[in-house]
Amino acid sequence: MHAEQQTADAASVPLDELDVSRPELFQNDTWRPWFARLRAEAPVHYLADSANGAFWSVTKHHLIKAVDTNHQVFSSEAGGIAIADPQQFNEEQMRAQSFITLDEPRHAPQRMTVAPAVAPNNLAELEPLIRARAIDILDNLPVGETFNWVQEVSVELTGRMLATLFDFPYEERHKLIHWSDITTAVPQVTGDDSIDMAKRQEELMQCAGAFYQLWQERAAAPPKFDLISMLAHGENTRTMNEDPQLFLGTLLLLIVGGNDTTRNSISGGVVALNEYPDEYQKLRDNPKLIPNMVAEIIRWQTPVIHMRRTALQDVELGGQQIKEGDKVIMWYLSGNRDGEVIDRPDAFIIDRPNARHHVSFGFGVHRCMGNRLAELQLRVLWEEIMQRFHKVEVVGEVERLPNNFIRGIKDVPVRLHPR
Ligand code: HEM
Repeated sequence: MHAEQQTADAASVPLDELDVSRPELFQNDTWRPWFARLRAEAPVHYLADSANGAFWSVTKHHLIKAVDTNHQVFSSEAGGIAIADPQQFNEEQMRAQSFITLDEPRHAPQRMTVAPAVAPNNLAELEPLIRARAIDILDNLPVGETFNWVQEVSVELTGRMLATLFDFPYEERHKLIHWSDITTAVPQVTGDDSIDMAKRQEELMQCAGAFYQLWQERAAAPPKFDLISMLAHGENTRTMNEDPQLFLGTLLLLIVGGNDTTRNSISGGVVALNEYPDEYQKLRDNPKLIPNMVAEIIRWQTPVIHMRRTALQDVELGGQQIKEGDKVIMWYLSGNRDGEVIDRPDAFIIDRPNARHHVSFGFGVHRCMGNRLAELQLRVLWEEIMQRFHKVEVVGEVERLPNNFIRGIKDVPVRLHPR
């Protein structure tokens, strides 16, 4: 659909009926004018009725930051972190045990026990293995053929990286991807009602079993630089395995947190460079721009489209009265297109000053714990891509997923041009 038509459509809907949560906006990649209108006319906007019930949309950079940093008023625990209500997921017990859906004072101690595992000094230890596994994929790609970059590189590499991080049996790494996929693939997110929830639960129990076994092995061996060993030997985490829900919840959060997000950043980077060939040339001329480009990819792609909070009391935001119990959606994708904070926000500019000034990782107590890990993975990958290929050329239609939570890319047909 052409940009003019999209803008006309977005302009024709009465403001109080405008619904930016419709999954097709993300599948068709037609969300831009809808969010632009909200930012301009109603940066804190109330929709009384939708497939996800009533909700407030917060769409400007500074207002998103205001909600995200005010965890005393805006709760992650009261209603979960996604626009779909948690009771619809039928797994409240398990969700409640992962610290992303806990408020203070319960959240901080849990986060603090796990955070050292992804601190910069530990990541430096992992970098050589991450690099070796990236190289192995890139060196075995079918040069001269058209193939799906998402499947062959983004999914495969993310799976290998997850296996590396947990030192999970390498040949069984597809299981990690599967467990991550079934954790997030519930009917409210995918629209697929045929999902067998009992089978899903059984598979998640298998996941817990596999990690219990690894935990016991690592606990009995000297400490190493993988996430399970670090948790099994960590002063505050070494008894985590005695609490099954905390154990599975924390591990699933670490698996899921880094899976779709990194996967779609890898795919999004290729799409962006193809849409902006001058930027691709800048990169060829100066590969030292890679770290800055990684931040720009994460802004431009915005892998997590939104986070949800629930108001614990009546509160004023941007001139609007939010009531206790209301659902409040921080649209990160829109905050990253806020022209008052980001110059030419729709453009992909790899040497953008202040590229890190995006909202993709959130703010405040729940700010992404894996942000440095994500940046490391993308930096290493792009360093190795640039060593080998003059261009990763997109040669067909990019296919996206109908998902308002994760900005998912399913198919990017590419051809490689070796250097
Ligand atoms: C480009 C990649 C990534 C993006 C865009 C991303 C985005 C986010 C966002 C938006 C949040 C919530 C922030 C908030 O509520 O203020 C979050 C939380 C989190 N992320 Fe990431 N993430 C990424 C990669 C990773 C990776 C690789 C890991 C693996 C360790 C990870 C682990 C987590 C965890 C554990 C939390 C919960 C933090 C808390 O509640 O205290 N993320 N992430």
